[in-house]
Parts: sequence; C-alpha cells; structure tokens
Amino acid sequence: LTDGPLKGRRIVITSGPTHEPIDPVRYIANRSSGAQGTAIANALVRLGAEVVFVSGPASAPPPLGVTLVKVETAQQMHDAVMQALPADAAVFAAAVADWRAASQSAQKIKKTREGLPTLSFAENPDILAAVSQLTEGRPGLVVGFAAETDNVIEHATAKRARKGCDWIVANDVSPATGIMGGTENAVTLISADGAEDWPRMGKDLVADRLAERIADALTGKD
Ligand code: C5P
Repeated sequence: LTDGPLKGRRIVITSGPTHEPIDPVRYIANRSSGAQGTAIANALVRLGAEVVFVSGPASAPPPLGVTLVKVETAQQMHDAVMQALPADAAVFAAAVADWRAASQSAQKIKKTREGLPTLSFAENPDILAAVSQLTEGRPGLVVGFAAETDNVIEHATAKRARKGCDWIVANDVSPATGIMGGTENAVTLISADGAEDWPRMGKDLVADRLAERIADALTGKD
C-alpha cells in the first residue's frame, strides 16, 4: 500500500472546523464536517504518502493510516502544523475560525439582571499564509482552499497572491449549487499557470484527482 508514487513523501493536511472557547462550556464553531480534507488524506495515503492529519473537532470519521493530531482551536492547529514541518507538501482544507474570543472566562458566564454580556474578538493566525510565507522550511507545494459565492476565479486568484500559496482549490458555494453540505463538488484549480475548471464530480473523486496532481508536482511530472 505504501508503494505508490508518493512513497517517502511527507504531507501535512489540516481539516475540519476549529472551536474557539468563550468560557468552560461554550464555544464558537462552524459547520465544516471535515469530509473533503479526510477524502484528500485517504487519497494521498493510497498513493503512498506519509500523512500528518491535523484535525479540528470534525464530524467525519478520521482517515486511516495517517498520523492523527487532534486540536481544538486555530492557535493549536497553527502550533501543530508548525511542529509537523518540515514536509514536502501542505494542504489546508480546514475551515479555521477567523476570530477567537479576546479573553476566555475561567468560570461559566452567568445570566444576570444587569444586562447582556458582550463578546470581543481577537484575530486568529492565518495558518495558510504563515506557512506559505515561511522563508525557511517552506513545503515545496502549499495548497489552499477558497469557498466563494461570487466571482470565484477573480477572488480566488487574488487570494492565492495574498496568501502566497502555490495552488488554490476554489469552489462556488452559493446555495443554488447545492455543493455546501452535499456529496459533489465543482472546483477550479488555480496555479501560476492560470485557472483550470474541473467538471462537477463526487468529493472523493475531487480528492483523487487532487492527490494525482500533487504526486505529479512532487515527482516532477508536470
Ligand atoms: O481567508 P480564507 O479563510 O478564505 O482562506 C481559506 C484558506 O485559508 C483555506 O485553505 C483555509 O484552510 C486557510 N486558512 C488558514 N488559517 C486561517 C484561515 C484560513 O489556514 N486562519
């Protein structure tokens, strides 16, 4: 099983949502299931890669045959990714919370007659941008994702430049597509060579095709 084209290659993947605590019992989260990240991990393992899978609290069962690093917050995910480097490639499929609560209450916040609590936010680290912009130990191939609802190619191309990653896998998540929460995906792969539209297909097939492209890039076939 480990005798594929990616034998001996180490790939770090982030997947799932993050949870950002407010107090000991409450948190901010998002609806990411971790399904696409898990499918990509399974596809890369099938091609022989050694995968470090850094996962937030996902509902999808984790991939098999990986080194699983479970985290909760964006900051923990950032630290786990940095610890997992160096790697030949990194794929950032996680839906990382952009903000965390600026401070966490050590006790459960109580309901009072004095009024409503207010929540202030602090910005989380952008893991994709941080890894893309490493001057030392940057993975040879850094892949990010972009979920857009309009002007997909324009926005994703700008995101690729802003973050400094090599590829962006962009998709249209506007409700009419039925892609968010569905089993199919229609993506555009954006690289230095431009934008390549892939036909609509199952998320597992998107993962297989992306894994093949990663193998080609790492083994010099493209
Ligand atoms: O900026 P935006 O969230 O749209 O970018 C999406 C891409 O950036 C995804 O690949 C996601 O995993 C990554 N990201 C990250 N850390 C963040 C925010 C996004 O790695 N704090």
